[in-house]
Amino acid sequence: MAWSCSSSSNKGLVSNLENARIFQNSRVREAMLGVDRKHYCPRNPYQDSPQLIGYNVTISAPHMHAMCLDALADHLKPGSKALDVGSGTGYLTACMAIMVGFSGKAVGVEHVPQLVQQSISNIKADGKEYLLDSKSLIMIEGDGRKGIAEHGPYDAIHVGAAAPTIPQSLIDQLKPGGRLIIPVGNIMQELLQVDKSLDGNIKQKSITSVRYVPLSELLDSCCAVSNLYKLISRIKWAIEQDKIRNHMFHTCSVISSSYT
Ligand SMILES: C[S@@+](CC[C@H](N)C(=O)[O-])C[C@H]1O[C@@H](n2cnc3c(N)ncnc32)[C@H](O)[C@@H]1O
Repeated sequence: MAWSCSSSSNKGLVSNLENARIFQNSRVREAMLGVDRKHYCPRNPYQDSPQLIGYNVTISAPHMHAMCLDALADHLKPGSKALDVGSGTGYLTACMAIMVGFSGKAVGVEHVPQLVQQSISNIKADGKEYLLDSKSLIMIEGDGRKGIAEHGPYDAIHVGAAAPTIPQSLIDQLKPGGRLIIPVGNIMQELLQVDKSLDGNIKQKSITSVRYVPLSELLDSCCAVSNLYKLISRIKWAIEQDKIRNHMFHTCSVISSSYT
């Protein structure tokens, strides 16, 4: 179903996603037509699969973006407030900003600082600087698990990375009547739709099984890199030690052979 939605243009991709009924809301179509993926995804922008964007992360597949926007469409109306956690390239946050309009606000939060800068450049390259200038689209560096309380509460929250459990702060920052879409789980993950009723009760249902990168500490990846460096220097040290030992062994052999 989904992989066959690939196309050679943004228009073709959006049309294939709609024909495959990945989304049905016409405002999702308008938003996806208005935000050209080529400005956010330099390689294979119209291929319906996740693409690497550096820093060990991916832009999500178009069918996932379409599915999430469709699930949130009734909560992304003109004037709504939206939060995109793990905003990466800024693509989905820009779509949300189009849907909520100038009277609303879309906030993206991403913990890789370089990606935050890159997302701002992508949005400008897509001709959407006016959204940033008007502050109806804001990109923030931070730990998305805590949400962004200062701009909340939100009518719609999207999380683009998998959490082991639903972060309480995101539930707290959801307006009564609001909706959160979040992948939850470790190896086996479900895309959950979490609704807060007007009296504050929480109801959740699974939309589909998914595979997302983890919603994690930024430190994790830094630690992995620094551990790798430590491992490499230990191996180098061991090789050096081995060389010295071999050299000493060789020298001793030469000395002892010269005495026999
Ligand atoms: C699969 S990518 C999706 C990115 C974005 N939705 C897109 O399609 O361009 C997940 C993103 O979540 C970010 N992320 C992971 N853990 C995070 C956290 N604790 N706070 C903020 N961002 C986080 C990653 O750096 C990555 O950019």
